[in-house]
Amino acid sequence: MQAQDIRQKFIQFFEEKGHAVIPSASILPENDPTVLFTTAGMHPLVPYLMGEVHPSGKRLTNFQKCIRTGDIDEVGDNSHLTFFEMLGNWSLGDFFKKEAIEWSHEFLTGEQWLNIDPNMLSVTVFGGDDDFLDLPKDDESAEIWKAVGMPDNRIAYMKGGVAKSEDNWWGPAGQTGPCGPSTEMFYWVGEGEPHGNVAENPEEWLEIWNDVLMQYNKTENGNFEPLSQKNVDTGMGLERTATVLQGKTSVYDTELFEPILEKIGALSPFSYEEKMSSYRVIADHLRTATMMAGDGVKPSNIGQGYVMRRLIRRAIRHGRLIGIENVFTHTIAKKIIHIMSDTFPELKHEEEILKTLSDEEEKFSKTINQGLREFEKLLAGFERALENTGRKITEISGKQAFKLYDTYGFPIEMTQELAKEKGLTVDVKGFEESYKAHKEKSRSLSAGVFKGGLQDHSWETTRLHTATHLLHAALLKIVGGHAKQRGSNITAERLRFDFPHAEKLTEEQREQVEKYVNDAIASDHKVTMEILPFEEAKKREAIGLFEDKYQEKVKVYDMGPWSLEVCGGPHVEHLGQLSTFKIKKEQSIGAGMRRIKAVLVEG
Ligand code: SER
Repeated sequence: MQAQDIRQKFIQFFEEKGHAVIPSASILPENDPTVLFTTAGMHPLVPYLMGEVHPSGKRLTNFQKCIRTGDIDEVGDNSHLTFFEMLGNWSLGDFFKKEAIEWSHEFLTGEQWLNIDPNMLSVTVFGGDDDFLDLPKDDESAEIWKAVGMPDNRIAYMKGGVAKSEDNWWGPAGQTGPCGPSTEMFYWVGEGEPHGNVAENPEEWLEIWNDVLMQYNKTENGNFEPLSQKNVDTGMGLERTATVLQGKTSVYDTELFEPILEKIGALSPFSYEEKMSSYRVIADHLRTATMMAGDGVKPSNIGQGYVMRRLIRRAIRHGRLIGIENVFTHTIAKKIIHIMSDTFPELKHEEEILKTLSDEEEKFSKTINQGLREFEKLLAGFERALENTGRKITEISGKQAFKLYDTYGFPIEMTQELAKEKGLTVDVKGFEESYKAHKEKSRSLSAGVFKGGLQDHSWETTRLHTATHLLHAALLKIVGGHAKQRGSNITAERLRFDFPHAEKLTEEQREQVEKYVNDAIASDHKVTMEILPFEEAKKREAIGLFEDKYQEKVKVYDMGPWSLEVCGGPHVEHLGQLSTFKIKKEQSIGAGMRRIKAVLVEG
């Protein structure tokens, strides 16, 4: 049975039981500021579970888009997903235990519904709680299960952990709100004939459905107050249910993921079997990011946008791990939209969604390889330290992690993941400190009066701008003091530099200039900026067109022995960020003026 059959049957079943079908709400919660995303089917219904009147009535059913990123590190195994669909039905102060359980049983085992052999099922009921709420065990639910034919030995009482929301206690979805004891249904996933129950062999039974008997409101101070009405909130994870009903061991083996994995396979030189976990991470993360984009989320450095950014960047890194070097997220997202847009019409804004992903990928693609190299350098440094001192460094400092974040766009969680792969940890607290310090610094800097002459401060132009300084210094040294900058123009692809000189540069001069710049890059010298009084800059022989341009105080960019130049910025932080400098063209533009066009190439 395919996922779409399960979805359709579920909705039809509850419609026949008098439920109104309501649409899936956005994954961005409207009424809960305590969480970033909708985490359960009941989440958007919180006000109604608390007693407000729902316009569609007291019995509702739907399939709800949900995002849970708490287990993001587990993605890659057989079952964890960051996005999933929850099939649900609700009673808002209408029916209670009896109907909820009878209907659950009917839907699971009924011939025209899921048609599950009852022998494949086991259930749990609330086992009571004496240390928090003083609630008795739920014999009533157990009796109802027996009445519908569930054998005694397949019913397990689970001691409820009310305070911790575990074992047959569900909710609230955020920090506060409706919650209550539950009765849960499990499917046999063990070897051979089903035996025992959930309490006896917990590993062999997998939860597929949860009926929550919502009667409490958890308040801000951690108390549980009885709700004004008794509700039912049921939730069946679609992906998981499809998996077990198809006899598969992994959700990735279902039709929900196979076409996505195939698409990934078409781009990667490695097979799915060789790189299973990366394939799965890419499929899961891009599916979630696509759904986020469908609901209007844009990657950013805070809140929901940050989670989205993390997902996309993590997918890209795993793309690199399986040998995908080109821009690829939109190709995968297209497939995802193709599979899912019949169910989720918001995905019909295909172009916009693909652009959101591509824009983010483009941004990150520019820095990821350098960032990964930077990380390798860091490891090499650790090795050298070990060789030289015999002491092993096991932690990446907050400053280093911050640099990977700030310069190369590595979310801190990605650095942690990289570190973990090498058996290292990251000083997250130190990272946060660097982050805060940087924020304050950039706030005061942006309030300054100096403004650079560049039109576009993107990463590429910044790098080329720094290269221009090095080229300028090289020309003054190699061609002569007269070869001063007369004009400069930078695009994302190349730099252009005009200077007075009577004849064509010799082959040797050209090579020397290139060498000068590339030696500077290889030295990886750091780039610092100081604001100096004009006279002071002059005294230090900073390069600059002092005639008329500058104010009383000037910004001076210092690249160690390589260059000292008056400039508005911005520049990279250290010269290693420039890769390789290459002169593409050197020509006359008349009147004793020469023009150089140059680029930075990878490698
Ligand atoms: N809220 C419960 C769950 O998510 C039932 O819908 O499992």
